[in-house]
Amino acid sequence: MAKRIDFNFDNTLASRVGAEGLTANDLDYSSSKDVVNAFRARVDSGEIGFPNLPDDKRVIGAINEFAQSMRKDIDDVLLVGIGGSALGPYALDVAIRGPHPVQLDVSGKAAGKKIVTRPRLVVLDNVDPGLIDAALSSLNPKRTAVCVITKSGSTAESLAQLLIVREWMTKSLGKKARSRIIAVTDPQKGELLKIAQEEKYPLFFVPANIGGRFSVFSPVGLVPAALIGLDINALMKGARDANALCWKTNANDNPALQSAYVHYALDTKRQKKIEVVFAYSSYLWASAFWYRQLWAESLGKKVNRKGEVVHTGQTPVAALGVTDQHSQVQLYAEGPKDKMITFWGVDKYRKDVKIPKDLKQYDSTGYLGGKMMSSLFTAERRATEAALTEAGQPNCRWMLPQVDEYNIGAFFQMLEFQTAFCGELYGIDAFDQPGVELGKKLTYGLMGRKGYEDFAKMLK
Ligand code: PA5
Repeated sequence: MAKRIDFNFDNTLASRVGAEGLTANDLDYSSSKDVVNAFRARVDSGEIGFPNLPDDKRVIGAINEFAQSMRKDIDDVLLVGIGGSALGPYALDVAIRGPHPVQLDVSGKAAGKKIVTRPRLVVLDNVDPGLIDAALSSLNPKRTAVCVITKSGSTAESLAQLLIVREWMTKSLGKKARSRIIAVTDPQKGELLKIAQEEKYPLFFVPANIGGRFSVFSPVGLVPAALIGLDINALMKGARDANALCWKTNANDNPALQSAYVHYALDTKRQKKIEVVFAYSSYLWASAFWYRQLWAESLGKKVNRKGEVVHTGQTPVAALGVTDQHSQVQLYAEGPKDKMITFWGVDKYRKDVKIPKDLKQYDSTGYLGGKMMSSLFTAERRATEAALTEAGQPNCRWMLPQVDEYNIGAFFQMLEFQTAFCGELYGIDAFDQPGVELGKKLTYGLMGRKGYEDFAKMLK
């Protein structure tokens, strides 16, 4: 890596924040070799696959080739998926191209053709009928590629949307629609696989040992990313370079491991049950939501791997800098001492804007004129960090050299490793999600799916 992503935890230390901070005893890295090796054993045995994704050059090449052949025929990419099957691709899109909404004008019609970012990525990750209606109204079925992504191949939300989108595509394209519906699913299990094979959709696989929230560098994230024109080679190079650091057993050389220890110690030794991720970049806003799922679903567990009841996990909260300084910081500074704050900062912004030297005669504008907007942004982050430190609230910081494919690849990979290491520290399985299964089964029961009648009865 050129300029490296940096993790700084000075403001979590008691020497900076007082009683709520960590002492040298709290940050005991003596188990670091065991933690890394325990996780490595799960990867080497094939149980967990995400660290190996960036090395799969065959899949990366196939996705690039496929995307290149399809891009000339499409204006938009419509993603059907939810949870880990949507948050990653959306985060990549927003990180590299910025946020862009799907909106109708007030008359309920599509907002016209003045759309600068093509192909748009339109994400159907909710079953709100208004969202689906607005999304389809704003798209041309003849110029749209659909990515239907579900690892299990059976998620109710995604399959309901597939039925609607398939009908919408077929009405205008007939059987040709099938070549424009790309399925991403498990190579062996699930009914999306069967549907895709029968209808001959282009098909990409999510390896069996990759769970939804760790799948951003599998075809789940890479197919939509390549279709909208992101440089997935740079993304994967970043993730590969991060791997080289993440396997180091000395926490001082491994930011993901060090960050895992800091989070774990703040939770277990200082009862910081909430982690606020304060992203100081609108480009990183969707990434904060991707991380929120990663942290919450991976570490929020009732039992540990010995079967003991432990109820682990920090509650992740996403905040946007500077916007949420004007909405949340009062609480973070003076509210309950149950939080740690993790800043995500950026060294170099994609664009900078000079503030005009006008209205010099006024105090509130005179000092701003001639300065760069980036210096205001950076000053506000630094000021918020200092104010929270002064208020005795432990805070740490991830600093990205810039938000581009390479650094996002490295950053996301480090956050996935951080999560896996934290799972080892808590002694829980960071890769399952038993807590969401009952809700899924009850929904199937309520919607009349065969085999789930008992769950419907449970509710009645
Ligand atoms: O992380 C997870 O495993 C979940 O959030 C899933 O991604 C989510 O439930 C969607 O599942 P699927 O991809 O099977 O449709």
